[in-house]
Amino acid sequence: MIVSPSVLSCDFGNIERETKMLDDSKADWLHIDVMDGNFVPNISFGFPVLKAISKHTDKTLDVHLMISNPGNYVDEFADCGANILTVHYEACVHLHRTIQHIKSKGMKAGVALNPHTPVSVLEEIIGDLDLVLIMSVNPGFGGQKFIDSSVNKVVSLKKLIESKKANVIIEIDGGVNLETGKKLSDAGANALVAGSFVFNSDSPTNTIEKLKQL
Ligand code: DX5
Ligand code: ZN
Repeated sequence: MIVSPSVLSCDFGNIERETKMLDDSKADWLHIDVMDGNFVPNISFGFPVLKAISKHTDKTLDVHLMISNPGNYVDEFADCGANILTVHYEACVHLHRTIQHIKSKGMKAGVALNPHTPVSVLEEIIGDLDLVLIMSVNPGFGGQKFIDSSVNKVVSLKKLIESKKANVIIEIDGGVNLETGKKLSDAGANALVAGSFVFNSDSPTNTIEKLKQL
């Protein structure tokens, strides 16, 4: 299992220490949640914080854009060190163009789906994607309750990927813990994002190791 701890739940007063802790852990990626107060009802952080994080880790930066018009900022995120850039299906009028733009900058391209958006909307684009991020909470905040029907979406997505003979990572974000993570793993998930479950635990590094074993 690929594990991508979400820095949204870390102690921002100690971002260097938190980033180095994740860098030394068994985490595969660092999940970076960018929110604009428009696409979602919360504002997190932007380019300067992403740059600061990238200075203290060599791990893959898995950047999740919860912003309107993400296509306008692809070059800037590439310059800040993003390795995977995931945009929301619901935020992109010209999704195909944005995906090609992301790949032209040498990043892996992902598309995130809100809980109400069916997997079937990706039928025509799945072959162009490196990753699909299924939101198992409504985006905007850490620490929310897992939406159980997300497990079925993993199954549907896996079927779509196989039917198109595509090579796409299935990542899940929101309310992930050992219990929900096991169900997701059984359903075919390849990558799990976990924020509050990791950072609220007594030992984030041990929690990351446990998630990796799912
Ligand atoms: C929510 C973010 C998540 C968030 C997950 O909008 O996309 O990445 O950090 O937090 P938990 O794991 O606490 O649900
Ligand atoms: Zn996220």
